Amino acid sequence: MQLKEVVDLRSDTVSLPTKEMLQAIQHAELGDDVYGEDPTVNKLEQMAAERTGKEAALLVASGTMANLTSTMSNAKRGELVILESQSHMYWYEAGGVSAIAGLLPWPVKTSYGVFSPEDLEAAIRPRNIHFPEPTLVCVENTHNRHGGTIATPKQLSEIGDVAQAHGLRVYMDGARIFNAAVALKTDVKEFTKHVDNFMFCLSKGLSCPIGSLVVGTQDFIERARRVRKVLGGGMRQAGVIAAPGIIALETMVNRLEEDHKNAKLLAEGIAKIERLNVDMERVQTNMILVDTTPLGVTDSLFVSQLKEEGILVSLVGKDKVRLVTHRGIEKEHIERSLTAIARVASKLHRDN
Ligand SMILES: Cc1ncc(COP(=O)(O)O)c(C=O)c1O
Repeated sequence: MQLKEVVDLRSDTVSLPTKEMLQAIQHAELGDDVYGEDPTVNKLEQMAAERTGKEAALLVASGTMANLTSTMSNAKRGELVILESQSHMYWYEAGGVSAIAGLLPWPVKTSYGVFSPEDLEAAIRPRNIHFPEPTLVCVENTHNRHGGTIATPKQLSEIGDVAQAHGLRVYMDGARIFNAAVALKTDVKEFTKHVDNFMFCLSKGLSCPIGSLVVGTQDFIERARRVRKVLGGGMRQAGVIAAPGIIALETMVNRLEEDHKNAKLLAEGIAKIERLNVDMERVQTNMILVDTTPLGVTDSLFVSQLKEEGILVSLVGKDKVRLVTHRGIEKEHIERSLTAIARVASKLHRDN
């Protein structure tokens, strides 16, 4: 099979930089960013803060580093952080929140990835000598393991009210916050204004090769800059990372709508295939979760058979498969994928 025939729906992280981004890297004005002297990094950080209505921003290497840097800048060792039980920070960051930040994660289950004010209220225990001090509430937007679901500005505002009433900060893992903003046709500031600080990723739907931004108050970013140094994330001529980030903020946000349209098309097509279920309520942005239970075969068999057809998807749980649209996935890829998925589902059922 030739590489070009592969339709890679595993994640939007596989999206490649544009030619314009690669040219921007080549021509970026550079300096030593640990000295604060990289003009391209400084420009991107300022753009990110302005665009999202906060005072300052900090470029870090990855979403995981952004979450770790932020939690360590928001809370002290031994304190408690309330997060969603399927959140990326809880599942996929190698336990850094406890191993490195020294925090006790307190997971709260939800149906669609967002706590209700009642869920959150119930998770906050009274301040008492027996309990760890609660400091921080984390929300994920859009929510990866829930299938790209959105925490709306109204939901964030309600969470913010409860947190504030108890003296807790709110941090948003906004790896895909621009997907949420574009999907709801709402300015990103309407989301960010309800949280104390947050991060977003350049290297997912925005198509950059590397990088995430931590955003918040000047004070918070100063602390985060120090934490980033502790974590070994102080970078020198980091303008090579920032340059495509500037292009992304200028040109890649609105096109996320295309990914959402393709995701809907793909989800609707899969939902029509016998023995595959899609909860369409979850299809809010660029992800699709497919329940393969009715097929009666292992989900890994489903994934490996699709791979043989040149369609790459991710396994995210028992009988749960995830497909993600991104730049590089066009309508023709959706059509090809649907034909292959239908063929594999019917073959697996026949052979079972
Ligand atoms: C919601 C969310 N947060 C954080 C991350 C971590 O980003 P990175 O892979 O850049 O460390 C991801 C990655 O997929 C994610 O989906």
